[in-house]
Amino acid sequence: MATKDETKEKASGNGVEPESEGTLSITDSRTGENYEVEITDGTIKTMDLRQIKVKEDDFGMMGYDPAFTNTASCRSAITYIDGDDGVLQHRGIPIEQLCEKSTYLEVAYLLTFGELPTKPQLERWVYDVTHHTFVHEDIKKMYEGYRHDAHPMGMLLASVGALSTFYPEAKQIEDEEERYMAAIRLIAKVPTLAAFAYRHTMGLPYVYPVNDLNYAENFLSMLFRMEFDYEPDPRLAKALDVLFILHADHEQNCSTNAVRAVGSSDVDPYSAVAAGVAALYGPLHGGANEAVLSMLGRIESVDNIPDFLEGVKNREEKLMGFGHRVYKNYDPRARIIKKHVDEVLEITGENPLLDIATELEKRALDDDFFTERKLYPNVDFYSGLIYEALRIPTDMFTVIFAIPRTAGWVSQWMEMTLDPEKKIARPRQIYTGKRDEDYVPIEDRKGPEKITGPPARRPKLIRRGA
Ligand code: ACO
Repeated sequence: MATKDETKEKASGNGVEPESEGTLSITDSRTGENYEVEITDGTIKTMDLRQIKVKEDDFGMMGYDPAFTNTASCRSAITYIDGDDGVLQHRGIPIEQLCEKSTYLEVAYLLTFGELPTKPQLERWVYDVTHHTFVHEDIKKMYEGYRHDAHPMGMLLASVGALSTFYPEAKQIEDEEERYMAAIRLIAKVPTLAAFAYRHTMGLPYVYPVNDLNYAENFLSMLFRMEFDYEPDPRLAKALDVLFILHADHEQNCSTNAVRAVGSSDVDPYSAVAAGVAALYGPLHGGANEAVLSMLGRIESVDNIPDFLEGVKNREEKLMGFGHRVYKNYDPRARIIKKHVDEVLEITGENPLLDIATELEKRALDDDFFTERKLYPNVDFYSGLIYEALRIPTDMFTVIFAIPRTAGWVSQWMEMTLDPEKKIARPRQIYTGKRDEDYVPIEDRKGPEKITGPPARRPKLIRRGA
């Protein structure tokens, strides 16, 4: 384990003071005033705009960026992405090298502490994670309370949040040891919670972790073990471990931003990470891998691809697994996954959806609609095919994504917690509503005499025996 000072220095993106690169000169045409705003790291501090006012008692100028498309929300030393060149590096090491030479748990250490571990550091880390994979028996009771058809991602979301009730000491986020314990527990227990969600969906008994299996093997065992001597195929476990490395972190994406925003209130890390799980659930984020498989299933055959692409261009459909806020080139993770799809299918048998995916990608990349908009396959385009080959049901795909992303969430949470610039995340708004209205008594209000349309719906009837 790294020492307190090492951890603090390495975990913080603020190890190096930014140097001034010059100033941005701004002239306010409303007043004719000139302002000089300092430039560091190719950015200006939006707070420096606040001095720009028309009248002395004005609030001052703000930036407007509703989806953070051009706003850096933090300084971070964890993950580097060059979206134009398709580059992804963790702590400076290219993702291609990590996938070839490392393991998921080593990458989790690298993300969290900023350096590759030495042999004893790695042994200790792996030992600690392996020996915290069990969850409290009461968590099982929580799972028993879910409907048989509950979405596993909903179950994971609730159970990660519930971990905070089992480890109330994690609230002491200033305590280095508590932060370490929370990191270990989250990375160790999320696979167990994920596997419990799957077993609940299948109506199967929960399988406890086995400490002499590695991280990916143990997860496969918790999913699929039916008899005592189940042995996960090491080749499939290796492929899963590579997928875990590929999904470990991706800088300030929607779910990481959620973890940082929620964590900025100084809540415990389990609650902050639960926010990340919730954000990942959405079909525009981690839910896309599930959406890709259902899209490929609907396309059904290679012959239907031209019609489908017409539908996309007419905005009736979205090509799921394509496009990315940051990558305007091939997502490097998609390139690596694509290689592994073939290897996995060699072991598990062919999948006709792969032919559809390959042809769909080829045609989209030949089409101006997609190339003009710089829409390329992202990590989710091929990952679902590997999960399916591993016999993982579609609604588990986002859950599998959440397992490795936990290392990213934890490391980003740690970095934020140790950041001297940290403050509670609290954006501003541009208010567009009415002001200074008078309260109108109900009998004087104008509006429809009768409400048309259905009242709030009752819950759907549960289909039993499905
Ligand atoms: N299919 C068809 N058109 C698309 C797609 C797509 N998948 N993605 C973007 N476009 C189009 C938009 O309609 C827009 O066209 P226009 O300029 O003519 O209006 C243009 O490309 C730019 O798209 P934006 O929506 O502005 O891009 P943004 O950065 O906001 O969205 C996102 C990125 C959400 C990933 C988007 O590309 C998308 O919805 N993709 C499909 C879902 C998906 O695969 N998500 C996984 C992302 S990876 C991850 O989260 C792990």
